[in-house]
Amino acid sequence: MKLSSLARGLAALASVGGLVSIGAPPAWAQEPIVIKFSHVVAADTPKGRGAERFKQLAEQLTKGRVKVEVYPNSTLYKDKEELEALQLGSVQMLAPSLAKFGPLGVKEFEVFDIPYMFPTEAFLARVESGPIGHKLMTKLETKGITGLAFWDNGFKVFSANRPIGSPGDLKGLKLRIQSSKVLEAQMRALDAIPQVMAFGDVYQALQTGVVDGTENPWSNMYTQKMHEVQKYAVDTYHGYLGYAVIVNTKFWSGLPPDIRSALESAMKDATQYEHEIARKDNEDAMAAIEKSGRTKVIHLSADQRAAWIKALAPVRSEVAGRVGPDVVDELVKEQAAAGLH
Ligand code: LMR
Repeated sequence: MKLSSLARGLAALASVGGLVSIGAPPAWAQEPIVIKFSHVVAADTPKGRGAERFKQLAEQLTKGRVKVEVYPNSTLYKDKEELEALQLGSVQMLAPSLAKFGPLGVKEFEVFDIPYMFPTEAFLARVESGPIGHKLMTKLETKGITGLAFWDNGFKVFSANRPIGSPGDLKGLKLRIQSSKVLEAQMRALDAIPQVMAFGDVYQALQTGVVDGTENPWSNMYTQKMHEVQKYAVDTYHGYLGYAVIVNTKFWSGLPPDIRSALESAMKDATQYEHEIARKDNEDAMAAIEKSGRTKVIHLSADQRAAWIKALAPVRSEVAGRVGPDVVDELVKEQAAAGLH
């Protein structure tokens, strides 16, 4: 090789990121690791605020070596696309509701959708932090997904444009549901017509009458402005809406160990914060809905609630085969161990 072409070769090498410089790390090694965290709810919800807290802690604990970009309100992906995007590595972190794992083939998560299966928040915490929660998370591994934490939203209410005091009042209505077969069975038990739809499309569907009503915790109802297009809501608290914070396994296991452990610590603290704010966010949202005067909130008496519990009771045995009789049995045993029956 002539001297001049050797010099040209070295110059070319030097231009791709300072490869021939000695001592200082190459420029590319200093680029932050980017975590795209996509979700479908408003920023001002338990999940939205939890994601922001994680971002803040993660960037602080890794001293800027990690940059977390939070994309709320389906701005990047809607429900179904976000799970595909995670598996493809286009985003690194999500927190889908537990009702959305069925189409991925992890039907056991639908156990959370069984009506009145989780009578108290304490019982939920017990299940999620115990062996049942752990076992559920490990089911994600075959899908290339790692579960990091359970996050809370709250208990769901029904809404529609007609008064809904008793279960028969939903008869014949088209009600939007998440992509869960358990929720489908729940709506059929009420003689309603379930319609699976992405969360980001619900407001418009309610506004235009594509669907007549829906179910969600107060915080989602309020922050999506569903109360502006629904005349009634009833505090049935018939089912739970929570989340699994998940990452792409390949991405997660490829992280330098010190970074991963800093992120685990950020997730632990963000999770504690998220759990602390969820209940109050929902209480505030209910108060704001009542104050708006747009939706009339129906508060059930104990007798009225008993009628909803009775109407929805058959759903549990109907869906046990799909969700997995083992996980349903384990939960029933756990309820007994927690002194709930
Ligand atoms: C819904 O689709 O109704 C909810 O799961 C949205 C969410 O993530 O809270």
